[in-house]
Amino acid sequence: MSYFSYKNGVLHAENVALSAIAQQFGSPTYVYSKAALVEHFSAYHDTCKLHGRDDTGAMICYSVKSNSNLAVLQLLNQLGSGFDIVSGGELLRVIAAGGDPRKVIFSGVGKSRDEMRLALSHDIFCFNVESIPELHRLNEVAGAMGKRAAISLRVNPNVDAKTHPYISTGLKENKFGVAYDEALACYRTAASLPHIEVVGIDCHIGSQLLDDAPLLEALDKVIELIDQLHSEGIQLHHLDIGGGIGITYDDEKPVAITDYLGRLFARVDAWRQQKYQGAPIKVMFEPGRSIVGNAGILLTEVQYLKHSAAKNFAVVDAAMNDLMRPAMYEAWHGVQAVLQRPTASQTYDVVGPVCESGDWLARSRSLAIEQGDLLAIMSAGAYGMTMASNYNTRGRAAEVMVDGDQAHLIRKRENPGDLFALESTLA
Ligand code: LLP
Repeated sequence: MSYFSYKNGVLHAENVALSAIAQQFGSPTYVYSKAALVEHFSAYHDTCKLHGRDDTGAMICYSVKSNSNLAVLQLLNQLGSGFDIVSGGELLRVIAAGGDPRKVIFSGVGKSRDEMRLALSHDIFCFNVESIPELHRLNEVAGAMGKRAAISLRVNPNVDAKTHPYISTGLKENKFGVAYDEALACYRTAASLPHIEVVGIDCHIGSQLLDDAPLLEALDKVIELIDQLHSEGIQLHHLDIGGGIGITYDDEKPVAITDYLGRLFARVDAWRQQKYQGAPIKVMFEPGRSIVGNAGILLTEVQYLKHSAAKNFAVVDAAMNDLMRPAMYEAWHGVQAVLQRPTASQTYDVVGPVCESGDWLARSRSLAIEQGDLLAIMSAGAYGMTMASNYNTRGRAAEVMVDGDQAHLIRKRENPGDLFALESTLA
């Protein structure tokens, strides 16, 4: 269900008109629907419950990088989510939002010593280790703190996720994880290190996957490794299949979360029954986009309509620094005029004020608009604000969360002064 819909000819977020949000908070502004977030998280949570998995049998670790606003993290924490982080900064955000570090997993290929110390001092659930050198560093850092670090190895199952090459991570040419063929040897090393405790296995093959077949293929490969490790006396307590289920930006038809999880649990249960007399294993997920992507839009105002011989441009006050996905991946986002006008539409490229030809948000869209109108760039809740920059000394957008008929400011708009506050001129 979409929580962004027209009421009396005006696009609303739940029960709040986007025009009222622009009036109150200005533009550009990211607007999120709380009800959408709850619905998307619940699709995971409720399906786990339906398959007999309470919090000990399954853990959903929301991928913080997709949208890390404190209010989003706070809400997901209240709903029972854990968190997948990729930096010390993200851990501090989770804690600031009230999240429990013991439900945090730490992914990423480049963890620094400081980040390891921070995570160990907060007793996170586990580190998703991506290389042998990282394993040795973690062993050393944990040893110096008199601790043992719980780890899972991120295995690269060499499965083609059939998604955009920039967001495909499970092929052997990618920088992520340890190669499948080397995983056993890595686990043996891990098991021999005094300050490492082997607890799980994980993989993440890519993002915006529409079909779950590659994920189930990755699962089969992970299962095979768990069995091999078991025969060597290395017992794992959890398997983490990563994130990756895609969303509808245009007319994509991603697999339903309930169907994907249903198939996945059926496989896991059959395997556990067959090989381990039904002894359970905890299953973990790291979803990001499928929870927050379609729970957010980017609200922007048309500054100028510019007509050239070849094209019509709608120059808006949001830009590539606010939403980088079109410039970076040629990503397609829907564009809806906030006010429905009865006038004829024209075809526009929706572009921002940044001095780059790559600064476009949408191309060749049919819109009935006038200067000063508001547009909603749809499906912008994931990898929108978190990838925003200050290019062209543009303050990042405000963020608002709508809950029924209430709009809450959850991040103030940045002022230019904020942007150079940390800089100094030479004496
Ligand atoms: N786990 C790991 C280890 C990841 O690297 C990612 C995303 C996720 C989980 C969450 O994946 P999701 O459920 O959101 O697909 N900036 C790109 C997406 C990059 C994804 C990076 N990794 C975009 O805007 O499309």
